[in-house]
Amino acid sequence: MQKIDLKNTYLKFFEEKGHKIIPSAPVIPENDPTCLFNTAGMQPLVPYLKGEPHPEGKRLVDVQKCFRTNDLDSIGDTTHHTFFEMLGNWSLGDYFKKESISWSFELLTERLNIPVEKLAVTVFKGNDIVQADYESASVWESLGINKNKIAFLGEENNWWPNMELTGPCGPDTEIFYWRSQNPVPEVFDPTDEAWVEIWNNVFMQYNHEEDGTFKPLANKNVDTGLGVERVTAILEGQTDNYKSSVWKDIIEKIELISGKSYNDEKYTKAMRIIADHMRAVVIISGDDAGIKPSNTDQGYILRRLIRRIIRYAKSIEIEINSPWEKELANLIINQYSQYYPELERNRQVILDVLENEKIKFNKTLEKGLKEFEKIIAHLEENLIDKNNAFKLYDTYGFPIELTVELANEKGFKVDIDGFKEKFAEHQEKSREGSIGKFKGGLASTGEMETKYHTATHLLNAALKQVLGEHVHQKGSNITAERMRFDFSHNAKMTDEEKQKTEELVNEYIKMAIPVERLEMKKEDALKLGAEAMFLEKYGDIVSVYKIGDISIELCGGPHVKNTNELGAFKIKKEESSSAGVRRIKAVLI
Ligand code: ALA
Repeated sequence: MQKIDLKNTYLKFFEEKGHKIIPSAPVIPENDPTCLFNTAGMQPLVPYLKGEPHPEGKRLVDVQKCFRTNDLDSIGDTTHHTFFEMLGNWSLGDYFKKESISWSFELLTERLNIPVEKLAVTVFKGNDIVQADYESASVWESLGINKNKIAFLGEENNWWPNMELTGPCGPDTEIFYWRSQNPVPEVFDPTDEAWVEIWNNVFMQYNHEEDGTFKPLANKNVDTGLGVERVTAILEGQTDNYKSSVWKDIIEKIELISGKSYNDEKYTKAMRIIADHMRAVVIISGDDAGIKPSNTDQGYILRRLIRRIIRYAKSIEIEINSPWEKELANLIINQYSQYYPELERNRQVILDVLENEKIKFNKTLEKGLKEFEKIIAHLEENLIDKNNAFKLYDTYGFPIELTVELANEKGFKVDIDGFKEKFAEHQEKSREGSIGKFKGGLASTGEMETKYHTATHLLNAALKQVLGEHVHQKGSNITAERMRFDFSHNAKMTDEEKQKTEELVNEYIKMAIPVERLEMKKEDALKLGAEAMFLEKYGDIVSVYKIGDISIELCGGPHVKNTNELGAFKIKKEESSSAGVRRIKAVLI
């Protein structure tokens, strides 16, 4: 098998073209309540696509950790993954169509040695906002792509992300590869499934506003995206992604642990699910956000992933009580920490998360499966009612999706709506992020969110004053209506401490302090005492936000220009978030 090191080839190539390699942002987005996970390479770069200067310059390249929950139920086929890696290169108001297209072409044909005949492209056919993209088409032609291999398509295909979502967007040109033993057709038919998309170059020139209009961005940007797993498999000639070099070692390890063969159809699907989910679990629990299995938000996804791994591991007769999950996780950490150094640092955390959840679930799994059999043996209709679904959840720790999956295998249905009702009744407290509320979408940083973002810096500073220097930010979550701020502190705050903190923040606001953005070397920022939540997320040159003598933090922004724009700050609640971490909910009025 031809082995392709796509990540390295890509990053090096764009570095040669003057791009700065930036580290992947965490897979758990910061300051973006619209999304539980980063789902595309551009997502952490939204503020910069909107015009905020990036400290590393105007040409960037990276490999971004991405996770998509909507694919969870498709895992087990040849092409879907939950966690995946997206390569991307960006121009923030620097080069545009000509360079972007020419470099993609050069990388594909000269570095990855794809014959030109096997490539075809789509370009935007135009709408009320922009005219047909003859410019891109003519660049493609000048490079040697035949006119017959260029298709002009509409908004449904060549506008990214689509016409509905708000945020940065624009027309794109997509590159397709002929994946078939048959001769390449003379004329490109984009509906022919042998043509597979491998790369998307978006010409991001608009912001889709809340009011529905498309406002030109300050800069004409380029945003590209290429999926590592997919393109590696395609270029290595595999129709099953799990047979590519990306997955080879992981699958072999699962074969070794289970003593079963991947090529034995009885086991293929289970092995794919274990491989996919284990990699996702390593990445999510290895993120510095410190996500632990729980019943809400990212923690719930993590729990579902681990429980599915265990169920499928049992199905291929892995000895659950042996340390198989550690062997697998260690292999993945070793493979990926070159790109994501936090995995090495958090190795023990990852292994503990897996082991603890395994022990917890394993205790009830057998009993739960017996209960499930009992329930279906007594069904009058083909429906598992809400009480039984809830019992499996509450007593045996079966995520509802697991019950649905088991039921589907036997041809039964589950009263999911009824379950949700019962779930809501019992989960008053953790309503936030409960089932069905997993949102998708792109970062929104409107005026209010920007104000709240600055307020988190002021609150962080005030808490240090009132409680002590041990206070550090552990997380935050902002919507247009409120902010949430998690910080290290061991005790419940007294009323007096809360009042003092609130007063201090309001004082900072009244002092009308300018908010300054500075760029400097990371080490210099740290010397100045700048706060930083995730160090490796930043490159060598960092952007720092300084608010007078009150606060200095490593941060990508955006922020208001002056603290006096914030209005009045009010703490609504102070509560425990997790061991040693407190949470404040606050509003600006
Ligand atoms: N943002 C574009 C994508 O994710 C490149 O496909």
